[in-house]
Amino acid sequence: MRNIESTRELLADWTKKIPESEIRRLLKNKTKYYLAGGLPGNLPTKVFPKILEELSEYYEEDEKRVINEFQYGMTAGAKGLREVLAERLHTKDKISCISGKQDWEKMLITTGSQQATYLVLDILVNPGDIVITPSPAYLGFVTAVVKIGGTVVTAPTDELGLIPEFVEDTIVKAEKELGKKVKLLYVVSDSDNPKGTTLPYERRKALYDLAEKYNIFILEDEAYKEMQFTERIPPIKSLDKDNEWVIYVSSTSKEAAPLRIGYSLLPEHLHLEAEKSKGYIDLCTPTLTQRVAEIYYAKYIDSYLPEIVQKYKTQKDVAFKALQETFPEGDYTNPTGGFFIWWQAPGEKAYSFDIGKFNQDVLLPNDVLVVPGAAFYPPVGHSYDLETRTIIPLKIIKGGMRIGFSFLKPELLDEGVRKLGELLTKHV
Ligand SMILES: Cc1ncc(COP(=O)(O)O)c(C=O)c1O
Repeated sequence: MRNIESTRELLADWTKKIPESEIRRLLKNKTKYYLAGGLPGNLPTKVFPKILEELSEYYEEDEKRVINEFQYGMTAGAKGLREVLAERLHTKDKISCISGKQDWEKMLITTGSQQATYLVLDILVNPGDIVITPSPAYLGFVTAVVKIGGTVVTAPTDELGLIPEFVEDTIVKAEKELGKKVKLLYVVSDSDNPKGTTLPYERRKALYDLAEKYNIFILEDEAYKEMQFTERIPPIKSLDKDNEWVIYVSSTSKEAAPLRIGYSLLPEHLHLEAEKSKGYIDLCTPTLTQRVAEIYYAKYIDSYLPEIVQKYKTQKDVAFKALQETFPEGDYTNPTGGFFIWWQAPGEKAYSFDIGKFNQDVLLPNDVLVVPGAAFYPPVGHSYDLETRTIIPLKIIKGGMRIGFSFLKPELLDEGVRKLGELLTKHV
């Protein structure tokens, strides 16, 4: 029998460079006050059995119909679901490069939106190519860039998200100093993960102008768009009238978690390449879940969403109030939607205080868990430094943390955030 060490040598290089995701590692800890992973705590639980019942009536005793419709499907997704989503993007999201359900072929269905972002990196990024992300950014994206061989350069953010003038400076200086092309700018326009920030319209427009000016694709990740507590701002994709520069990716995972379906709208030539790449990864997304999603988005979503979103808003209000009343001095966001609040220690402590260690040594023994700031950075990369206005080795806000309010019921959430505040006050 070979031992593990000698087998490890046979593995691909990336397996040695990329660590296990911090969130998957943390998920193994079960704590009473679970403020870590972004698990949806409010789901339309009754609707899915109802849809399955409708489906079973429709298919009852018609074996041929079942065999025809629940086969391997098209790699880019089932027509019915793509029609429903194309219509929704046109009417609800004001995206004009798609004119409604007749443009269904422009939609790409994936197995989770994580697959779509991976496909985009797969078809765009050559070794060393630069991808600009917010600092901090969704870890499932930043680490995937490194896995594919790209170079992450993080750009500064404030309480509204990316700051266009510094994004522009990052583009110019990263290309000059690293000698590679900036290929992609990653943006979560609505209620970013991990900061919960929502980009104002003027910033969306300014980022779109940068994409046009520098010939850079924007990957707009709209995972939290249905989870907004205030009126929606049109996505950056709505500015991309000729479907040229914005790769729009969204997910059913926050409002309909059991389905694991993502959907995207890409510039045509990118769509074809992404579809080709998907074909080599999973052949197609399961047809049964696509059918359930089609019915949910066609008939039910808009009657279920308001109540669900209201529940998340109540949870956010509870967590935010507890934070304000118990936390020590620091900077924090007040999200207008989504699942997360970001808190970071003040001034220099944002870079020196180690929340990872605090999580392990202090929070876990007290039955509390958050995700430490360092998790939202790639294993290697660069940063745009606000003080020197230069590109420097990766600068990590390890004195920051993501507080997830999506999972716990209000009472427990209140207790948990207060406990976190008391422990922080003692240790920061
Ligand atoms: C910003 C963001 N994008 C994408 C994803 C992945 O979504 P999916 O479950 O559709 O793969 C997540 C999941 O947490 C996320 O927070």
